[in-house]
Amino acid sequence: MPDGDFITLDRVEKVFDVRRKTGFLRSERRRVRAVDSLSFTVARGEMVGYIGPNGAGKSTTIKMLTGILTPSGGRLRVAGIDPSRERTRLAARIGVVFGQRTTLWWDLPLIDSYRLMHRMYRIPDGRYRENLDRCVELLELGDLLDVPVRQLSLGQRMRGDIAAALLHDPEVLYLDEPTIGLDVISKARVREFLRELNAERGTTVLLTTHDLQDIEQLCGRVMVIDHGRLMYDGPLAGLHEVGDSERTLVVDLARELPPIEAAPARVVKVEGPRQWLAFPASESAAPLVARIAAAYPLVDLSVREPDIEAVIAKMLQSMGDTPQPPPEQAEHVVS
Ligand SMILES: Nc1ncnc2c1ncn2[C@@H]1O[C@H](COP(=O)(O)OP(=O)(O)OP(=O)(O)O)[C@@H](O)[C@H]1O
Ligand SMILES: [Mg+2]
Repeated sequence: MPDGDFITLDRVEKVFDVRRKTGFLRSERRRVRAVDSLSFTVARGEMVGYIGPNGAGKSTTIKMLTGILTPSGGRLRVAGIDPSRERTRLAARIGVVFGQRTTLWWDLPLIDSYRLMHRMYRIPDGRYRENLDRCVELLELGDLLDVPVRQLSLGQRMRGDIAAALLHDPEVLYLDEPTIGLDVISKARVREFLRELNAERGTTVLLTTHDLQDIEQLCGRVMVIDHGRLMYDGPLAGLHEVGDSERTLVVDLARELPPIEAAPARVVKVEGPRQWLAFPASESAAPLVARIAAAYPLVDLSVREPDIEAVIAKMLQSMGDTPQPPPEQAEHVVS
């Protein structure tokens, strides 16, 4: 298996049959095509963002990659292994963090969960020690090891979960919303840790998130999925270009002034000495800031990123010829 094909999906499908009661003795059967002929490859050591609107099929993809769900069609391999057929063999080589759910034992102190994993995964003592020490240091878990998981804050629990996923030195780490609900400092800490992990160990990372900054700071490549289909695969800057998305520069001037002139940025709002300028997200803010600073009495400024939903929506819109998803096939059955 060449390293370029570390993860491969070839026309992978996942169809759910959902039955819903619509009345006495009546139910409706619907087929939901959560993943629809999805093909891509990820090379060893890549850090890839996997984004899309709610219900796009992101979590379903990750569950198939871990072997939790079996594809309805197509071919899927991770490190040469078919996940749903050899889930246990694959488990030794992958790590997973679901932001919405913990893999830790709720009632036990954090360290006890790690000890259990040490034994469950049969991690050699030296390796376990080394990985644990490293995670404790970089994720600042030292003071938390003796605290029962139920008493941890969300951010602390998430860091605990990330460490748990890495104790057995996985070659690939799937992260499904690892920064959801975290404060700015916890997010920064988690990102810094992931960057180091990828740089030092070459761990392949597939990251699902609704936070554009996660992608911006971590991923050279981003894939956008919508209705189970791959709509974009490339650098984040390219995604901004396709959708013409904009960032906003918020400028505080020393006093009230007429709207700032600094094309291609344009003033979209003025409130006293504060002005908001929109500029193409694909352009660097630095030259713009320099020009404004040279010509205006600048007190303070900040750059606001567009949110990920807006970027994706604009991209999907601008693609115009977006293939429409097949209508959900509903069929009424009497049971
Ligand atoms: N176990 C299941 N049974 C039936 N339908 C499911 C199941 N899991 C997911 N689905 C459906 O498949 C589609 C894709 O869901 P998925 O959880 O993969 O989306 P997602 O991209 O992770 O969304 P989000 O951003 O909200 O987490 C949705 O329509 C969802 O309702
Ligand atoms: Mg999800």
